[in-house]
Amino acid sequence: MLPTHDRTATVALRGSTVHFDADPFVFGDDALRYESDSLIILEGGKIRAVGSYASLRDQIPSEAIRHYPNSLILPGFIDTHVHYPQTQMIGAYGAQLIDWLNEYTFVSEQQFADPDHASAVSRLFLNECLRVGTTTAMVYCTVHPESVDAFFEAAHDFDMRMIAGKVLMDRNAPAELRDTAQGGYDDSRVLMDKWHGKNRLLYAVTPRFAPTSTPEQLEAASALWKLRPDAYMQTHLSENLAELDWVAQLFPERKDYFDVYEHYGLAGPRAVFGHSIHLSEREWQRLAETDSSIAHCPTSNGFLGSGLFNFQRAKQAVAPASPVRTGMATDVGAGTSLSMLQTMGQAYKIGQLGGYSLSAAKALYLATKGAAHALHLEDKIGSIEAGMEADLVVLDLKSTPLIDFRMKYCNDIHEALFIQMTLADDRATQAVYVNGRQAYAGQAQDANVHAMS
Ligand code: GUN
Ligand code: ZN
Repeated sequence: MLPTHDRTATVALRGSTVHFDADPFVFGDDALRYESDSLIILEGGKIRAVGSYASLRDQIPSEAIRHYPNSLILPGFIDTHVHYPQTQMIGAYGAQLIDWLNEYTFVSEQQFADPDHASAVSRLFLNECLRVGTTTAMVYCTVHPESVDAFFEAAHDFDMRMIAGKVLMDRNAPAELRDTAQGGYDDSRVLMDKWHGKNRLLYAVTPRFAPTSTPEQLEAASALWKLRPDAYMQTHLSENLAELDWVAQLFPERKDYFDVYEHYGLAGPRAVFGHSIHLSEREWQRLAETDSSIAHCPTSNGFLGSGLFNFQRAKQAVAPASPVRTGMATDVGAGTSLSMLQTMGQAYKIGQLGGYSLSAAKALYLATKGAAHALHLEDKIGSIEAGMEADLVVLDLKSTPLIDFRMKYCNDIHEALFIQMTLADDRATQAVYVNGRQAYAGQAQDANVHAMS
């Protein structure tokens, strides 16, 4: 049973904390802030104060303090690219992107015309997010408006900060999954008016990817986004080599894949491009110059054999190259886990294959404050500071016998985080706080409560 309290009540979490003052890709891994005994005071859904336990303990009655010894409190994880309707076909065997889409994805997504199915999967998906400590995600629904209403209704009930949108597809997909340029625009407009800015919810204009939209639909998507410049745009970019050839055939007049989106007005702040693997230097520059963002999807890229993300170039801060806002993402169902710890572990392996050893601090940054930066939400989520929304995850650092054993030989916080991202999964989630309220309690909860008494 979760402890119940209303959001206006004051609660405080005591334990070790980690978050970032700055971007470790620019300032080095010392940008990671570790405090061994912090107190985080939550009030009205926000972090009211954070500091050492010794300095803040007098501000709050001791019965309102929840102590998490042997744990680590982090900002809630942020998944910058995921398809909730694909939760039911995660781990579908075989082939690369285009065949995988045709054989499995487009078959499953047809079921989301049914609002009851969409609602059930939305709630299952959000529960799974909580189980792995993810408190915000940027989500693809399906082409059906019902799938979007179902998702936002569920996210509203869960009180989570979520970004989502109706997929736009008017060609190269089964008839059951196609809209039209005008119909997709009209439906998206209604959904955006209904949900964007409601409570913690935000809307993303969502053309699936260039091959499944006509030029007319890409123009309509841009017109839609212009109606609400503070809304988002999400799509896929340069994931797979056969996809690149297809885009070149469909848009022969464009310089490259990114130029297709830029030409139709779909680049800029709050545009989030999933994958972005096989990019030319010209495309990297235009991503940076337009202040667009990238969602890196390492488990998906391994699963579909798509390729190796270029961390060096994405986060390159040395002139004349400029960095691109980048967040970590699962891309379930091509991604093989909703766990951001597992995703960080796979990002390390992708980096290794490309000659880059991603540190634990940098991986964690991409899943927290860096992801918030990629989503232009760093003033609200992604770090543990006064005034931020109180979305937090408490990780049990000894969640399996092997991890418990391994942690005995661990010397510092960087090593501890690296062990967690290499070995841990949903079993490490001890508690999750969403908008100041406890939304999930994991296996270790009882032991913790016991430890408090
Ligand atoms: N490209 C277009 N649609 C998709 C999708 O659903 N998943 C992935 N991984 N790539 C895509
Ligand atoms: Zn995707």
